[in-house]
Amino acid sequence: MGAHHVISLTRRVPDLEPARAFYRQFGLEETAPGTFATEIGGEQLHLLAGPAAEVVEIHIGVDSAFDLEEIAARLEGLGVAVTRTAVAIAAVEPVSGVSVRLSVAARLPKDPPRVPDTGDRTDLMRRDPVVPLRLGHVVVGCTDVERAKVFFLDGIGMRLSDYVIGGPFMRFETDHHNIVLLPAPLTLLHHTAWKVRSVDEVGYGGSRMIENHPERHAWGLGRHGASANYFWYLKDPAGAFAEYYHSDMDDLADGPYFWDPVPGTGELPVAVWASPALTEQPLVPEAMRAPILTEG
Ligand SMILES: [Fe+2]
Repeated sequence: MGAHHVISLTRRVPDLEPARAFYRQFGLEETAPGTFATEIGGEQLHLLAGPAAEVVEIHIGVDSAFDLEEIAARLEGLGVAVTRTAVAIAAVEPVSGVSVRLSVAARLPKDPPRVPDTGDRTDLMRRDPVVPLRLGHVVVGCTDVERAKVFFLDGIGMRLSDYVIGGPFMRFETDHHNIVLLPAPLTLLHHTAWKVRSVDEVGYGGSRMIENHPERHAWGLGRHGASANYFWYLKDPAGAFAEYYHSDMDDLADGPYFWDPVPGTGELPVAVWASPALTEQPLVPEAMRAPILTEG
């Protein structure tokens, strides 16, 4: 029992219309202006107009009112102020300034099994738009990940899965990671990741998004080390990345052979393989490039 999934992310973008068009083409269903739904996760992305790119709120689902009270008490024990309403609690993670709201919500149904290849090549003819199943994880850059992780691990009760490039990868249950903090010179949304049904959908979705939009291509197709998922990252018009991913590993995450990492040891490669290789910092957001360039 406890917190079980990221219900939604709310973010501000400086230019709303191009961002709305991007996420419609990405395959999310726009149910109201700026509100986007996945197939099994419901409304999981809310885009608000500027003035600057900003992570406004991460909304997390829990099983019961008892969970809300337990989490509120733990956060208050960490010195974090908690706001209570009849149906939710809310608190601000003090390092990043990101608001986190928790409310009682139904768990998501299990991901549907992948459709097996037919063997008669009809699967290779399919040209339906990719529709993401659900929001898998949210990655936030912040200035002190060690301090910020305490809110999520000790306050909300997430588990630590791994450290990759200096960032704690944290999970609720069976996904390898649901919220990740990455070291950054400022708070920013690094990327959101959207689960699709197969590696074919990762490839098809990514290639479809860059058709006539080569500027959207960031990194992919590739395979991560830490979570073993296939990925393709695209640049959205508001300075963050959007990732299509698929992993058969997710449901293994609480199996007896899954690991509890020891921070600082056994760092896994960011990617086992990818196109292009990780030589050009393809996943450094524009907002971070200037400080990095002046350092070197
Ligand atoms: Fe990711």
